[in-house]
Parts: sequence; C-alpha cells; structure tokens
Amino acid sequence: MKNRSVFVTGAGGELGSALLSHLVKAGAKVVALDVNEKYVCPLAGVRTVHGDLCNQNLLQSLFDEHKFDMVFHFAALLSSAAEKNPFLSQKVNVDGTGFLLELAYNAGKERKSPTRFLFPSSIAVYGSADKARLRSPLTEDECLQPETLYGIQKLFTEQVGAYLTRRCSGEYLDFRSLRYPGLISIDTLPTGGTSDYAAEMIHHANDGKAYGCFVSSNSKLPFMTMPDAIAALTSLAEADADKLTRSVYNVRGFSVSAAELREEVLKHFPKAQISFEPVEWRDNVVASWPDDIDDSLAQKDWGWSACHSLETAFTDYFLPGLRKAA
Ligand code: SER
Repeated sequence: MKNRSVFVTGAGGELGSALLSHLVKAGAKVVALDVNEKYVCPLAGVRTVHGDLCNQNLLQSLFDEHKFDMVFHFAALLSSAAEKNPFLSQKVNVDGTGFLLELAYNAGKERKSPTRFLFPSSIAVYGSADKARLRSPLTEDECLQPETLYGIQKLFTEQVGAYLTRRCSGEYLDFRSLRYPGLISIDTLPTGGTSDYAAEMIHHANDGKAYGCFVSSNSKLPFMTMPDAIAALTSLAEADADKLTRSVYNVRGFSVSAAELREEVLKHFPKAQISFEPVEWRDNVVASWPDDIDDSLAQKDWGWSACHSLETAFTDYFLPGLRKAA
C-alpha cells in the first residue's frame, strides 16, 4: 500500500470507516468520498470529499488530479434499501459503479500499470428456485440466481469487473472482489441492509433496549466480524496476482440462526429483551440467501482464515469493545 494513491468511496460507511486507518498506517495517500455532508475523515492526511457517486464530473476530476492506482468501492444502497428504491439503486449500484470501473480502467491504461479495484460483493448474489440447495454451504459458482435487485447488481458488477480485467489481460484493471456474509461491527451500525438484525440485536442488548427482530427465529445466515472483514479485504488487496485463480472469493466467519444468536446474546446480556417480529418481505430476502458459504478457495489461494467464531466474536471482540466504548 505504501505510496499508493487510493480512492475510497462510501468512506463514511461501516467498511470505509474501518478500513481507512489501515490504509493510512500502511502509508497510502487516501481520498475519502462520501455523500454525507457531515462526514469528515478524522485521520490526518486523508482528503475528505463530499459528493455523489453519480457525479461523473467530480469523479473524473478526482481521477485526473490524484491518478488513483487503487480503489475501494463501498458506496452502495444495501439490499433492503435497494428493494425500496429500485431505480435509485440502479443509478448508484450499477451506473455509478460502471463509470468508476471505466475511470479505473482508463487510469491503468494511461499509466501502463493496472488499477487495483476492490469490490465488496455479497451472499446476496446467491439464490435458487430449489430452496433446499441454499441450506448447505455454497461454493463460488453454485446457485447464482439472485432474487433481490441488490444481489443481481452485485453479481453483474462481479462479472463486469472480471470481464474488463480479462479484456486487458490484467494490464489496466485488476478487479478483485470478496463475497461478504453479514458484517457485525461494534463501532457502527449498518443501514439499509437485511443482515442488519444481527448487529442491531447485539447493540440493543448492550444499550439495554428491547429489540424486535425483523426476521424469523429460524433464519440462518453466515456472518463475520468487522476486524475479520477488514483483514480479508487487505489480504486480498495485497495478495500477489499470480496467487489468485479467480476475481471473486467467498469469505465467512460463522453461520448462525437468529434464535442461536439470541441465545448467545442472552449468555452475555441475561436481561436482554429480544422478541421475533418478522417482516415478511425482509424475511423472504434472508430466506433467498444461503445459510452458509464455503470459503476454502480463499484459504487455499491467499491464505485466508477468519479469526472469530461465534463464541470468540463475543468474548474477544464485541464485549471488550462495547465495554470500552461505554
Ligand atoms: N449485508 C448486506 C445486506 O444485508 C448483504 O450483503 O444488504
């Protein structure tokens, strides 16, 4: 990362805010873009820019000025937000992303060395009419018939990124993507996602607030802690290109049902009030995603391994962090 010129979109979001300090520590020069006018990156040396991913003039001028050779593209409408705002999500998740890929490709072409483009994809790319197939861990190429618009958009971007990289034999663009499970951070809460219930359950328990979980108790998804998510992303970003056998890799921490998560929360917060009040359309979104994913290719190709299991996520990350913040 040292001396890399790095562009981070959606910098004020969960992944962006967790990644930025790693980039700065690693010696990267960073421009942090966020649409939220109130966002200011607190780290010295990072340039904060306010703006919309769909503002092509702004993105072009930032590329012209900073000649980015690495992009972390987090700006997006998440799954629930995309279901509610389909056309806005197309503008941001597809059109905005497409233009960013074009700029990254052209910057690499001009420089004659590839722009490394890191893209967080999602378990939302999965789906199958045969729901039983979603109940066992899926490898990267199985059951790719997403039912949500967000999943369709993520799968499309994965494929366009991989195509553009192949098209130039990796000379201008080096697109790399992780399929994340639900992410849980102690520092931030997700907005607009559907796996959000897990983080909400833990934060409500910690704040002493009752929580009505919007999915059924038997809903099961893979999850990962934010430190693991950042470790996966930085390892993939830094992996030697010749180690990678594909553009898109699954990563996961642990798989848990909403009822099992509630039990785990109650072990540590015995007074927590957690009920199940499923909202049908959100429950259906989770039911269209897999219970778990198989990340053995990431382990094999670039040595990925998650630190936190369900138990150690609580004992080594959530509880110490939440206590410190209190
Ligand atoms: N966490 C995302 C969401 O719930 C899925 O990748 O939208």
